[in-house]
This record gives sequence, C-alpha cells and structure tokens, in this order.
Amino acid sequence: MTKVIKTDKLAEAAQCIANGGLVVFPTETVYGLGADAFDCKAIDNIYKAKGRPSDNPLIVHICKKEDVYSLASYVSDEAKLLMDEFWPGPLTIILPKLDNVPYRVTGGLDTVAVRCPSNETARNLICQSGKFVAAPSANLSGSPSPTNVRHVIDDLNGRVDYIIEDSDCEIGLESTVIDMVSEKPVILRPGAITLEMIKPLLPEAELDPGLLKEAVKAKCPGMKYKHYSPKAEVEIVCGEKENVRNYISEKLSKECNCGVMTYKGGDYDDAKCILSAGNTMEEYAAKLFYNLRVFDEYGVDKVYAEFSDEGGIGVAVKNRLFKSAGNNITKV
Ligand code: TXA
Ligand code: MG
Repeated sequence: MTKVIKTDKLAEAAQCIANGGLVVFPTETVYGLGADAFDCKAIDNIYKAKGRPSDNPLIVHICKKEDVYSLASYVSDEAKLLMDEFWPGPLTIILPKLDNVPYRVTGGLDTVAVRCPSNETARNLICQSGKFVAAPSANLSGSPSPTNVRHVIDDLNGRVDYIIEDSDCEIGLESTVIDMVSEKPVILRPGAITLEMIKPLLPEAELDPGLLKEAVKAKCPGMKYKHYSPKAEVEIVCGEKENVRNYISEKLSKECNCGVMTYKGGDYDDAKCILSAGNTMEEYAAKLFYNLRVFDEYGVDKVYAEFSDEGGIGVAVKNRLFKSAGNNITKV
C-alpha cells in the first residue's frame, strides 16, 4: 500500500527511509524515488519498483555539501569549485567512491554520483532521515521522468511506501551530470547547469562527444537505454516558423489522431490535441516531460514537436526530446 502524503507528514516519510523503505519526493528537477543509499536491500527494491536494469547506477542525494566527504575518497579543487558555485542545485558530480559506498548503488563502478538538491522538501527529507538518499527519477524505466505528483502516482502507486505530494518541479529535466574523475571535466548528461555556466570555472570542461554524435558510445550508463519515450511516435520538426507550420498542417490534413507540441505559439486545425511548450527553452524544459505524458493520456498515435536549436538549457531539451523521438527529426 502506498501512502500519498503532504509535506506536514515529512517525518513519517523520513522514518520510512531510515527503516529501509521507498519514498518518492520532489526535487527542483524531477520527482525522485529515494531509499537509504547504504541499504542494499532497499536499493534492490528501487530497481524492482522502477523495472530498471541494475547496472545503471543511482545518484546519491545529500542535504549538506560536507556530506560529500562521507561518499567520495577524493574531491579535487575543481570539484570543490563546482560544489561552491552550484550546490545546492541541479548538478550531479561523479567522484571516486569510498570503499563503504555499496557497489549496488554505483552499478559496480568505482565512482559515485553525488547531488545536493536545492528543493526544501527534498533537503528536509534527507536531513530528517539521517541517511544519504539514493534516488533515480520516479518513473517506470523507459518512460519520461515525472515532474508532477499525478504522473508519479500513474507510474508508482502500489510500488513504493510513500509519495510526497508537493508542487510541480520547476526545472522539469534531470540534473546535469559532470564526470570529475576523467582527465578533463566532462558533461555526461546536459541539464539546467549548462556548459556555458561551468566554463568560467573550469575552462577545460566539455560535453561528452557521445551527446553530440550518436555513433559514439555514451559513457553515462543511463544514456544507453531507451528513455523518455511516450507511447506515441514523436517527430521533431525544425526550421523557419512558416515552413514548420506548413509541414505539420499538411501532415495533419492527411493523418488523424495526431498531437502537436507548439513552441512560441501556433495553432493547428486538424490536431487531436495541441500542447504548448512555451516561449523560451526554460519553459520548454519545464513542460517537455509533462506534455509527453499528456499526449499519451489523449491516446494520440503521433506527435509533431516544434523545436528550434537555441543553446543554454536548450541543449538539455534537445537531448531529451531527440531521445523521446528516437532521433526522428525533419528539417524544413
Ligand atoms: O535530477 C536528477 O538527477 C534526478 C533527481 C531525482 O535528483 N535523478 C535522476 O536519476 O535523474 P536517474 O537515476 O534517473 O539518472 C542518473 C543518471 C543516469 O544516467 C546514470 O547512468 C548516471 O546518472 N550515473 C549515476 N552514477 C554514475 C556514475 N558513477 N558514473 C556515470 N554516470 C552515472
Ligand atoms: Mg531517470
């Protein structure tokens, strides 16, 4: 039985984590499915609840920056710069792990992913539990990460002990993952903390080539799995606004049961549903996963997604959107 609670019952949920249970909690990025990172049985239960392959490592969440020293065997000066600038916040740092961090949580790797979230509920939960909290996104493996409690309930009701009901996640895409163990700092997963924001501190930092070129094998184990997929087929349409409009309108006149995700406005006649991705890449990020799930709720077979390449958090939007579309993109 899953208990859906509000933040006034946080102590109960924190106790559940301390006792080896599973608790879904909000973060500034997406909802997370948390358990005690040092309890191997609880970690197994995370993998089971999500239907996730157990070689895909989990991020360990802490409520105070200093806790990183209880997880990592070495924290370089460069990593400290990142922690000082971006923690608490949507940045996950890969560091060499201490021996006591279970391989179960790191998917057999000698490194550990550490994140100190800024969301108050998340921090209070972690602090009150007295544990370090391993937490993947709170979705069934393969589907888009949930950014609101309704979508968490759709996926995980009956599979976890507690779901903490709180406001929608403001960022809407998972944290930036940066590898600080490799020779140069490498962004393995783009997010709200962008390469442009990191470069002034770490001029050598770069994006994993796997993110730029599909053929190169991604180093972030999670990136090799099919991800963020709605049931509907997604086709991304890029180009001049007018051309994009004409292309999609033409398709809609011939196909039925389609949805359109518009960017910077736009209206279509023959669509079963039209969802806006807003007017900025920040808004697109916040709405992307939500919209993908709502398209499925409408039962559309095909989604046409307007998109334009704008950098910043747009790099992360592009990464997730292209994965959800299986790289099905039309340039017009
Ligand atoms: O925003 C987020 O990061 C959310 C919230 C809940 O904090 N969590 C999240 O976790 O997105 P998850 O498990 O869905 O994604 C973690 C990613 C995966 O792609 C995983 O492969 C990668 O981080 N990762 C974890 N540990 C790693 C390690 N030691 N080396 C390389 N990649 C790692
Ligand atoms: Mg995930």
